[in-house]
Amino acid sequence: MTYSTTPPGSQQALAAVLPAELLGLFDDTFVRSCELLEEYVHRLAVGVFRSTGLEHACTESATVSEAVRRAGLAPEIAQVPAAWILHTLASRGWIEQVDGSRYRCLPALSAPDPEEIFAAQTTYDPRCLPGYRIAALAAEHYPGVLRGTVTGEDALFAPDHIGAWLEYFSNDNPLYAIANSVGAIAAAHALPIDGATVLELGGGLGSGAEALLDHLQKADTGKTLLAYRFTEIVPAFLRRARKLLSARFSGQPVSFAWLDMNEPFARAGVAPGSCSLVYGVNVLHVARDLATTLAEIRHALADDGALVFAECVRPFADRPLHVEFVFNLLDSFRAPLLVPGWRPNGGFLTPEQWTAALEANGFGSIEVLPDIVTLRADYPSFMVAAISARRAA
Ligand SMILES: C[S@@+](CC[C@H](N)C(=O)[O-])C[C@H]1O[C@@H](n2cnc3c(N)ncnc32)[C@H](O)[C@@H]1O
Repeated sequence: MTYSTTPPGSQQALAAVLPAELLGLFDDTFVRSCELLEEYVHRLAVGVFRSTGLEHACTESATVSEAVRRAGLAPEIAQVPAAWILHTLASRGWIEQVDGSRYRCLPALSAPDPEEIFAAQTTYDPRCLPGYRIAALAAEHYPGVLRGTVTGEDALFAPDHIGAWLEYFSNDNPLYAIANSVGAIAAAHALPIDGATVLELGGGLGSGAEALLDHLQKADTGKTLLAYRFTEIVPAFLRRARKLLSARFSGQPVSFAWLDMNEPFARAGVAPGSCSLVYGVNVLHVARDLATTLAEIRHALADDGALVFAECVRPFADRPLHVEFVFNLLDSFRAPLLVPGWRPNGGFLTPEQWTAALEANGFGSIEVLPDIVTLRADYPSFMVAAISARRAA
């Protein structure tokens, strides 16, 4: 059987709703690969439903908490990932949602084969396979992590998996690179013409910085940098990024420092009011206390400075996203400090929640590129955006 999704031609429809500068990024290959990866992850989730004991636990109808308890999983770890699995399988009609909060197995749970989708992606565009390998890695570790025998961090970031992450957080992986590309476009808009001082948070292995520095050079934006301060919390990532970026951008004023965004930025030598742009790709959603991190960012910005961050944005509150299948295993993703109104859950936020978070923490002039609120009725799976904001007066 050949798995097929959106037929080619979705590009014309997107052209009506996306700014021209973004359109080329969301080509048919990208859109179809996203759909394939989502299908792959959903099929993996069926296997995890079984391997974690949740299937057996839902023989009789169960709330998420009951299912977690019946399956003997660690409640403080398993609640969020189990809710994701039950909600997702019910949304596919693979299990039954009995009422608002209870789930039950159907008489025969079909077992759609994930490998069929992996094969389809291999034929269609193998550059997207890193996301599949990371999802398969997560699936393998679900039982151990949800039982509390290993942490998600230890399981996913063990030394022998670093190669998989290098391939994943890369501009050669179209499904990850999209956030870097959208972020670079928004950041270039926000930069002053010259003399910009940039602070990047959670720069990881350097793919976000690489895309932004490339964009500034190639797109002939006319913007010049006085300083680009690349920071990251994991020393091994920082070392790799320094190697990559120093070699690729030897003519640019890039410096490197360790910085924990949960701590005062002064500890990393960031002076108050010193930045024209604070930038981050896929990092702010793991801030332990978003208010504290936003206060630090505000403090670091010059009066006319901007915050730009590219994120996976949740189009609709409470609707699971396939990327969460992996990151729900990580404590930092799952369990930040929650704030009613704008930080109701760990992980990804909606455009409205980001806007409320920024407004509540001294930012204004907020823009979301592309405008997910307008897009989401026709494109309910559209989930990448760059959010820009400036210090409110
Ligand atoms: C999803 S990765 C994104 C990496 C990079 N921005 C890129 O796009 O290639 C998130 C990054 O945030 C970093 N991170 C996590 N917690 C952090 C913290 N408290 N302070 C600074 N960086 C953090 C991680 O180590 C990781 O490199």
